[in-house]
Amino acid sequence: MTVLEQLIFATIAFLVISVLIFYWRRKRLYNLADKIPGENGLPFLGVLHKFTKSDLNEYHKEIMKLILKNKPISKTWFGPQFVILTEDAECIHKILNSSHTQNKPSYFYKGMMIDEGLLAINGHQYDKHRKILNKSFTPNMLQKFIPTFNEKSRVCMMNLSKRLSSDEAFDIFKYVGACTLDSFISGHYNYDQNFYDSDLVKIIEESRSLVMKKVVRPWYNIKILFKNSSLRHQMEYYYERLLRILNDIKTNNLQNPNTKLPDLVLNLLMKSKNNFTEEEIRDEMITFIYAGYETTAISLSSILLMLAMHKDVQQKVIDEIDEIVSSNEEISNETLLKFSYVELVIKESLRLFPAAGITGRQSTEEIELADYTIPKGTLFVLSIFDMQRSSKYWGDDALQFNPDRFLPENIENVNSHAYVPFSGGKRICIGWKYSMIFMKIFLIHFFKNYTIDTKQEFKDINFDIIPLMIISQGYMINIQKRQK
Ligand code: HEM
Repeated sequence: MTVLEQLIFATIAFLVISVLIFYWRRKRLYNLADKIPGENGLPFLGVLHKFTKSDLNEYHKEIMKLILKNKPISKTWFGPQFVILTEDAECIHKILNSSHTQNKPSYFYKGMMIDEGLLAINGHQYDKHRKILNKSFTPNMLQKFIPTFNEKSRVCMMNLSKRLSSDEAFDIFKYVGACTLDSFISGHYNYDQNFYDSDLVKIIEESRSLVMKKVVRPWYNIKILFKNSSLRHQMEYYYERLLRILNDIKTNNLQNPNTKLPDLVLNLLMKSKNNFTEEEIRDEMITFIYAGYETTAISLSSILLMLAMHKDVQQKVIDEIDEIVSSNEEISNETLLKFSYVELVIKESLRLFPAAGITGRQSTEEIELADYTIPKGTLFVLSIFDMQRSSKYWGDDALQFNPDRFLPENIENVNSHAYVPFSGGKRICIGWKYSMIFMKIFLIHFFKNYTIDTKQEFKDINFDIIPLMIISQGYMINIQKRQK
């Protein structure tokens, strides 16, 4: 045998042995996986080849197909990663609440520039961060943001008035998004800037679409391939621009500290230097922008679109607002408590349009689920979206927009596990009460000033997964000034 032949033989033998060890170590995983129904997909790739299209609304359709393969749970593979998908209320409840399934899947969250932030971290690091950051969202703190929410909503109403001169429908998301970002950054980051058409909005949009590309291309998990890819260069370009903005925010906070509100997110991060590393501070700052901005903007845009489609419900919202507040007055916390119908409308919209409609967890131990033993390390894909639209829980009119279903006498007949727009268990959204207050104040200002309609129809709506669920066609409405 020549030296070259010996080399080839040794390489092949090494590869064969490596593959055998790989499979032998995962023997129990394959045994358990075999017993669970679902779609195995192609060798090595699993079903990842179905997620390579550039059309983001295809992702949602593919995930729905995989979920529907088997109920209540369905298995598949994303490359070597074993996956369980479900839309079942009891399974989702169990996964959100079991101590063995609290971890976030590194598969999805790595490389999103938020590795050290609340959305992605696990274990003790998570418990420590959450405990400190909870201080920013106590009832007492939330009340302090109300003046900012009023002020920023008024600015948005002024910007919207420019739309009155045109009959053309426009995407309300842009306005709502800028107002949401403005309120959060001004409130929690003590930094006032106009975010309409700002760099930050563009950076967030571009970088999250690059992140989606990375998620569905498994070969980018191999460091050397990702390091030399154009995707990495593009991501770094946006990351650097984002870091420049964050540095401005931090510098501004050092020069003009908000001493009256020591528990703002940014203050907690910056003053607890012993608790947080520089990377953790940076990633938490980005996490809160990502997690708070588009979720709220998508939710609020969906509410407006639903009200534009359902003029009778819109009129009831307007009646309630007119009964409780006079023209453009400052909305206080006490006033907010009186808005029971607006609250029903928000809840019903979040049922049909949960912004984080698909979420994930990873198991740290084997667990029993729907009569199967699920292997340790499984990635769970939870479709809150499909569960909250399922006729099994919401009846034959599940796809109808009907706020009255949340009246106490009606909702008591619905399985309480079937409604988790802000997720559940210990990782429930940290900002859920904050966003409910913000959305109510925004809606009150909005309908004090405008009425809306739309040509968009519910049946035509598709979703892009970005990874939040955003309507592909946009949130196209027309506004009219209200006759006082
Ligand atoms: C209507 C608006 C919102 C919706 C629908 C929403 C939804 C969610 C959901 C479903 C999760 C859980 C994600 C998961 O399980 O993987 C979550 C987590 C989170 N949200 Fe929200 N969110 C909203 C607003 C906000 C706001 C305004 C903030 C910040 C001020 C925020 C910050 C966060 C953070 C930091 C997490 C991670 C929590 C943890 O793992 O401990 N969210 N959100």
